[in-house]
This record gives sequence, C-alpha cells and structure tokens, in this order.
Amino acid sequence: MIVTIDGPAGAGKSSAARALAKRLQFAFLDTGAMYRAVALAALRRGLDWNDAAALADLAQQLNIEVRQYHTYLDGQDVSDDIRSHEVTSVTHYAANNPAVREHLVALQRQAAHQLDIVTEGRDQGTVVFPHAECKIFLVASAEERARRRVRDLEARGEKLSLEEVLADQNRRDARDAERDVGPLVAADDATIVDSDGMSHDEVVDYLEELVRARRTGNK
Ligand code: DC
Repeated sequence: MIVTIDGPAGAGKSSAARALAKRLQFAFLDTGAMYRAVALAALRRGLDWNDAAALADLAQQLNIEVRQYHTYLDGQDVSDDIRSHEVTSVTHYAANNPAVREHLVALQRQAAHQLDIVTEGRDQGTVVFPHAECKIFLVASAEERARRRVRDLEARGEKLSLEEVLADQNRRDARDAERDVGPLVAADDATIVDSDGMSHDEVVDYLEELVRARRTGNK
C-alpha cells in the first residue's frame, strides 16, 4: 500500500509522515531529502547554479540513498547537513530542474517498489504515485508553518527571525506552486487536512484513521 503525503514546507508533513509510518509499520520515504542532497553536492562542488545541464549531470552521478530516517550522499550520512538554512535556500535549483526531477522520480518509484510505504513530498500523489491507495494533502497557515520552522532552526542552533523565515517560506511556496514540472498541487483524489490548531498526535491519529479506513475499503 502506498500512502502519499504532500503539502507546503512546514505543514508538519515530515514529522507526521514518520510517526504514521511507525504506527502502521510501513517504510518511510522523505523525497525532499533527495532534492536537498543534490543541492548539497552542488554546493560542495561550487557548481554554477545557472548551469542546469551540469546540475542534471551531477544528479545522475551521485549515489543518493534515503533509508528510513537517514540520507546518504555517496556513502556519507548527510542527514543533518541537508537541513541547514544554506541548503534549504538553494534546493529549489534542484527541485526546478526537470532532468533532476525525472531522475529522482525514478529513484523514488524504485525505493517504493513492493513496499508498504508512506512517502512525503510535493508531487507524490500527483506525479510519482498517481495510483497510490491513500493520498493526503497536509496544509497549515503560513504563520503557523513559519513559527515551526523558526523552532526547528533554533533547535539546530540557527537563529532567524520569524519575518526572515516567513519571507523565505513565501518565496519557496511560490516557486513550489509555479514550477512547470511536479508543482505543489493537491491530487484530485487527495484528502486535504488542515493541521492548524491540531497537535502532532491529533494529526497522526487522524491520518491513521484515514489510512485504516482506506485499507478496509470504508472510504
Ligand atoms: O520537504 P522539504 O522542505 O525537505 O523539501 C525541500 C525542497 O525540495 C523544497 O524546495 C521542495 C522540494 N521538493 C520537491 O520539489 N518535490 C518533492 N517531492 C519534495 C521536495
């Protein structure tokens, strides 16, 4: 069974998807980590961000493995490095590159092959797994999402103001929604869940209910 969770940055997809996968004893795939890993590799090599072909070539050569809760880039655990503000702010170069997307979409399908899996991203229910049995589109207000991001960055020792994070997030939202390939959009058959005012556990409880109902064919 494939469960897709898409939605904008900071809606709580990642923590909800992880917890849901644990409860269901499903595998978990964080597809944003793949785009982040490509961006990190390009940063480390000092690649020219305007050279889309070079970025696509690089993506093909990398060995990116997203294993449950860890991300490996050419064998090195980069789970922490890919979450920095610097990587976050350049990942759109990878996400907006059609050839990079094509390559990563193929890797994502391969990773999910014959597994019960919860997969999280922007285009999982629309492009990558259009036949997924259960599709969720998780949203929250821009302010709530920015507050969560500030807290996450603080926990990493990076201090940014709410205004900075909100402005950055608005730019990312616009880029995610406007790109030609794999834009952020809810699949027609996705259930839209607004997590504003809900605790983490309430969100996970609700998602679990949705999945179990799908499994038994009630919805
Ligand atoms: O979910 P995240 O913040 O880790 O995503 C990082 C970036 O990758 C973000 O700019 C959106 C993009 N992304 C994407 O385009 N498609 C996906 N399936 C997952 C993430």
